[in-house]
Amino acid sequence: MRVLLVALALLALALCEEQLASVTLEADGTYRIHSGIVAPNSIAWAVLSDETDENGWNFLSLHSDASVDGTDNGFYAAGILEGYMMAEGITFQIQAAKEADYSPWNLHYPTAAVSYVESQMEWMKNESDSQRHYSLYWDLVGNYLSFVEGLQAGYSLSPMSYVDEFTGIVYEGTPFDVLMLQVGDLTIYSI
Ligand SMILES: *[C@@H]1O[C@H](CO)[C@@H](O)[C@H](O)[C@H]1NC(C)=O
Repeated sequence: MRVLLVALALLALALCEEQLASVTLEADGTYRIHSGIVAPNSIAWAVLSDETDENGWNFLSLHSDASVDGTDNGFYAAGILEGYMMAEGITFQIQAAKEADYSPWNLHYPTAAVSYVESQMEWMKNESDSQRHYSLYWDLVGNYLSFVEGLQAGYSLSPMSYVDEFTGIVYEGTPFDVLMLQVGDLTIYSI
């Protein structure tokens, strides 16, 4: 009976493939990822259920501690977890963009698109910094920008980062890559 139970438990584990990770903010101001546990004093934690084989989707559940609710630190930490835990999917997307939509030799997005988006982000940051203390809208924009920054930082810390197959160089991603995840069909950008 016990053997059967263990076998069933293993089967359930294999079917759900739940992964857990958390982030602590260290005394020196750095963010630390803890794989497989919710570490004491975590400011954010996440559970990833890989249900790709059952329904084609992954589900990521992100949580932040009440002590960092509504703060850039909390959003940044949650972003780190998303970038770290979803790194494989992000790599697929970057690979599709860089190798299929452009040329295998070109590791860069079209510069006009990149500089447009970058100056737009800088403008958002400027507006948020100067208005967030009295505007809820611009405060949320500041939180969102922290989340995007954290997502890129988490992605760069993952062992699943994109590796250029020709040069062997590990590509850590940029905030631009993160924004491009929302574009869907990236061929739009190559015309
Ligand atoms: C953002 O602010 C900096 C410093 O005030 C300024 O130099 C820069 O031009 C601003 N950027 C944009 C896109 O508004």
